[in-house]
Amino acid sequence: MSILKITGGRSLSGSLRVQGAKNSALPLLASSVLTEGLSVFRNCPRLTDVEATVRILRHVGCRVYEEGDVLYVDASGPILPEVPDEMMRQMRSSVIFLGALLSRCGEACLSLPGGCELGPRPVDLHVMALRALGAEITEAGGRLCCRCPRLKGGHIALPTPSVGATENAMLAAVRAEGSTVITGAAREPEILDLQDHLRACGALVAGAGSGVIRIRGTKKLRGGEKRIMPDRIAAATYLAACAAAGGRVRLYDACPRDMDPVLQALRRMGCRIETGENLIVLERRGTLRSPGPIITRPHPGFPTDAQPPLMAASLKAEGTTVMIETIFESRYRHVPALQSMGADIRTAGKTAVIRGVEKLHGASVRASDLRGGAALAVAALSAEGETLLGGMEHVLRGYEDMAGALTALGGEARLLEDGIVRGKDPRPGYGRDAEDG
Ligand code: UD1
Repeated sequence: MSILKITGGRSLSGSLRVQGAKNSALPLLASSVLTEGLSVFRNCPRLTDVEATVRILRHVGCRVYEEGDVLYVDASGPILPEVPDEMMRQMRSSVIFLGALLSRCGEACLSLPGGCELGPRPVDLHVMALRALGAEITEAGGRLCCRCPRLKGGHIALPTPSVGATENAMLAAVRAEGSTVITGAAREPEILDLQDHLRACGALVAGAGSGVIRIRGTKKLRGGEKRIMPDRIAAATYLAACAAAGGRVRLYDACPRDMDPVLQALRRMGCRIETGENLIVLERRGTLRSPGPIITRPHPGFPTDAQPPLMAASLKAEGTTVMIETIFESRYRHVPALQSMGADIRTAGKTAVIRGVEKLHGASVRASDLRGGAALAVAALSAEGETLLGGMEHVLRGYEDMAGALTALGGEARLLEDGIVRGKDPRPGYGRDAEDG
């Protein structure tokens, strides 16, 4: 059990390399079971969700090696088609193994996944997609069992652009017999990252980033090498932190192209933002204003994962901010903790109304989920006094060394583990930028 201790109330100044994207790393790692060779993933973030994925890969028979931020996955040996319950429960995205294992082994048996509690998170679209490729799927005692010695291409029409179901469908279809068309596909940049890698492995797939993905099945895929894209949600979180606390931060190895709605919202709040190819510089000196209504939507709309950090940045903004969460239920579980820090927030169903307050104060709070925890860290930086943020195990699923990152940006943050204070991260990229003092 770890706690993040944040002393707030001072403006930020510093520079940070953005970590590799969690939501890209997980499907990419799962894709390695489709190949009978060596997959190499660079810029792999150090996250507990990545560790959970590596445990699953090792369990099914892959050999996995780590060297700095590079992960090597060798799937050339025999692969087991099942994942035990306790491994599945650690992470919702483990359902991504369904399509990959089914394709590789002709069968797959998994329990229903765990992960953040954001209300009911069904897997019906994943099941529908695999059935469209000919899989026989049965569900009993919380376990899904799929069988199909050779998947056949087909038309998968997703009624909702589910990210995970789109990825599962792609993973299953790339080695199926014949052609597959996925319509109503999710358009998130991480899906494009997956397509890039599958192509490098020899798959014939096109259209990722649009709502229609076309795939021609190939019998075998070779191993490939991939640099994982930057994490746009981690970047959004650290930008929200600077908007909330004031100051100037510079994020490099970032992906401003994929972050348009978040950058627009921060600009409306009064932040000055400059972007380069892989660079985002945000400065907030004057008054912080409400960004106006924020409605979460599938990409290219405002990302649901950036909603909690942006809410935290709006707490002291002048005016009233209305947020409407359209993707997940129960995505306001961090609100009572923010209220205990002095925030004025009312929620009703999908809507949250935030009235800007002058001051927030530190408190002892607990992360209830990954992004909700990140929101509490953002609020703590702009609050007076000390915040003890418990439940960091949720946050570390998706944020690489958050204490080190916040320190690099000029914040005062320490991770306490069983009463022990962990020192500053000595890795390059985790330090104040000379230019920023
Ligand atoms: C992914 C991201 C997560 C992000 C979410 C939405 C990963 C590892 N996680 O999650 O961080 O918050 O996209 O951008 O990439 N749905 C169904 N049936 C299904 C599947 C989904 O009804 O079978 C619904 C969900 O309940 C939700 C919506 O579709 O309301 C979107 O979910 P989805 O895009 O599937 O999210 P994930 O892939 O789980």
